[in-house]
Amino acid sequence: MHDVANLVQRATAEIAAARDVKTLEAARTRFLGRKGELTALLKSLGTLPEADRPAAGEAINDAKTRLHAAIEHRRTALEQERIDARLSAERVDVTLPGRGQRHGGLHPVTQTLELVEDLFTQIGFAIADGPEIENDYYNFEALNIPAQHPARAMHDTFYLRDHPLLLRTHTSNVQIRYMQHHPPPLRIISTGRVYRCDSDMTHTPMFHQIEGLVVDEDSSFADLKGVLEDFVAHFFGRPVELRFRPSYFPFTEPSAEVDIRGESGWLEILGCGMVHPRVLENVGIDSERFTGFAFGMGAERLAMLKYGINDLRIFFENDLRFLRQFG
Ligand code: DAH
Repeated sequence: MHDVANLVQRATAEIAAARDVKTLEAARTRFLGRKGELTALLKSLGTLPEADRPAAGEAINDAKTRLHAAIEHRRTALEQERIDARLSAERVDVTLPGRGQRHGGLHPVTQTLELVEDLFTQIGFAIADGPEIENDYYNFEALNIPAQHPARAMHDTFYLRDHPLLLRTHTSNVQIRYMQHHPPPLRIISTGRVYRCDSDMTHTPMFHQIEGLVVDEDSSFADLKGVLEDFVAHFFGRPVELRFRPSYFPFTEPSAEVDIRGESGWLEILGCGMVHPRVLENVGIDSERFTGFAFGMGAERLAMLKYGINDLRIFFENDLRFLRQFG
């Protein structure tokens, strides 16, 4: 029985020392396996005197049970160690200060459009909207620009292949679409993208316009001037000198272009005029009873003046060093 006690002692030490499951398995095989030491002892029982056998058998079985328990105990401990190691390696310290995230910001053109809408809503204008993919009627025909009209050449229109559609060249299409469904008196402001097949220092194929339209029983050119002067003063935050130059647009009569006094002379910012009676008739409005005025401005041009930017293209390059200045 001295053999059994010695074996148990060695096995127990080895099991306790096992640093991983593989070593533990090796110990199990060595002591408890089919060719293991304890099994060998069991087999040698037959060589003992008859009287000693029961006690020896009992000792061996007892050793077997203890070693099994020791191995399971160690296995559980190893598994727990593995979990603990992983938990501490993957620990997240939620008390550390955050890494910080920059706030996004609106594009300067978007800020401009929102400011314009805001200012006009304050004086009772409704916000209207229209499609960017438009047909010939709303973009041209109803605005008194018939086919073959020379004004069409000024628009450098993008036409869709295989469809009788185009990308709107201005926001004036909204005038027609709105008046078709809203009887006067009406006053609207509409902002959005427009497209022209044109690209250089001062032109991009997509840009933004702001359209205004008022139709009422006695709206006059004086009202138009007053509205625009008021608008620019609020938009730029200071009184601004405006110059009205006679011009031509098929959908207004009379028509004017408006310049603003800049640091290096006059800069054109918009076109405007009294709505042509034929445009009113095209949407079923009695042009004897109602008159209207309209205006259309380039949003990028306004933004350039407001923020002192001299190259139009920078708006569309998405250079964060530029954009972040407006955050
Ligand atoms: N639609 C014109 C353009 O894109 C701008 C314009 C001029 C709009 C006069 C108007 C207007 O509403 O009355 O060139």
